[in-house]
Amino acid sequence: MSRRRIDARVELEFLRATEAAAIVSGKLVGRGDKNAVDQAAVDAMRGVLGEVDIDGVVVIGEGEKDEAPMLYIGEQIGTGDGPKMDVAVDPIDGTTLASKGGHGAISVVAAAERGSLFHTHIAYMDKIIVGKAARGVISIDASVEDNVRAVAKAMGRPVTEITVALLERPRNDDTVRRLRELGARVRLFGDGDIANGIIAALEERSRIDLLMGIGGATEGVVAACAVKCLGGDMQARLWLRDGEDVVAKREGLDPGAVLGLDDLCRSDLAMLAATGVTDGELLQGVSYVRGSAYTQSIIISSLTHTTRMVDGKHDLQSFANLSSVNGLTHARPQGAESPA
Ligand code: FBP
Repeated sequence: MSRRRIDARVELEFLRATEAAAIVSGKLVGRGDKNAVDQAAVDAMRGVLGEVDIDGVVVIGEGEKDEAPMLYIGEQIGTGDGPKMDVAVDPIDGTTLASKGGHGAISVVAAAERGSLFHTHIAYMDKIIVGKAARGVISIDASVEDNVRAVAKAMGRPVTEITVALLERPRNDDTVRRLRELGARVRLFGDGDIANGIIAALEERSRIDLLMGIGGATEGVVAACAVKCLGGDMQARLWLRDGEDVVAKREGLDPGAVLGLDDLCRSDLAMLAATGVTDGELLQGVSYVRGSAYTQSIIISSLTHTTRMVDGKHDLQSFANLSSVNGLTHARPQGAESPA
C-alpha cells in the first residue's frame, strides 16, 4: 500500500472517529458521570474505527481486554485490509473535565507504522515538549532553569516572556516553584495533557512555549505523534509509582532512560486527529443546533505534511447506530425540518 493511499483514506477516517466520539459523548457533558461520557466516546469511536481500511492494533487504549470490552490494548482494529498501523486512542482526554462541563476535553486518535509507538503499563512520565523553534535545545537531564533559558534563547525572548504549561498536581509543585523563582510565566491546567502538549508544539499557537512536568505516559506518547508531525521536540522519562519497578522490569524498560521523540514514535509516518468535546484553547467543543452537531477538529499528519483545522456540521441521525446515548438523535425540536 502506498503512502498516498494512507493519506487519502486514513487521515479522514480517523477524523470521522474522533468526530463521532465527540458528538455522541458530547450529549453527556456536564452530567457528572465520567464513566458514562467515556463509554459513549469509546462506543462511537470503535464503531467508526472498525470500518477503516487498516490492519491496525490498539497499542494505547482503554486498558486490558478483561477490563475493557472495546478498544483494549492489543485489539485488532480496522477491516484488516490496509496498511499495518499502531493505533493510540484516547476517546476522551479529560473525562473529568467533560463530566463537569469544564474546558478543554478532546477526543483523540493517533497512529503510526506498526511497531513504532512506545507503550508501557507504567502510568506516568516526566516530559518536556517544545515547538520547532526550540528543537534540539531541551534535555530532560538538564535542570528546569537550564531548559527554560535554552528555550528562551532559541526563541530570542527573555525568560520572563516564556510560558510553561504544567498539570496542576502536587508532584509538579517543585517544578512550578522553580519556574516562578526563575521568572517564567506559569500556566497550570487541571487536566488535558494532550491538548496542551499539542499547543506547545504548534507554531501558530504561541500561548504555550513549553509543556513540562509529570503527566500521563500514554498521553505523552499520543502527544509525541503530533510533535513528530509538527517538527517540534520532546523528551521524557518514566516516573514510577511505588511497586512499578516490577512493571518496568517485566516490560524490559530501563526506568532511568531518556526517551527522545524517536523512542516515543519511531516512525516518520505518523498522524493525529482530535475533536473538541468541550470548548478549549486548542479546539471548540461540540454544539447541537436543530438536529445537527457542529464540531471543530485538527488533523496533524506527517504523511501529507499538513495541519488542518476542520469545522464539521453533522446530521445527528447518522450517529444513531453509534450511540448508546438516549436522545442523541431526538435533538431536533418539534416542528423543525427533517433531514433529507
Ligand atoms: P483522563 O481523561 O483519563 O481523566 O485523563 C486526564 C489527564 O489530565 C491527562 O491529560 C493526564 O495526562 C492525566 O489525566 C494525569 O493523570 P492524573 O490525573 O492521575 O494526574
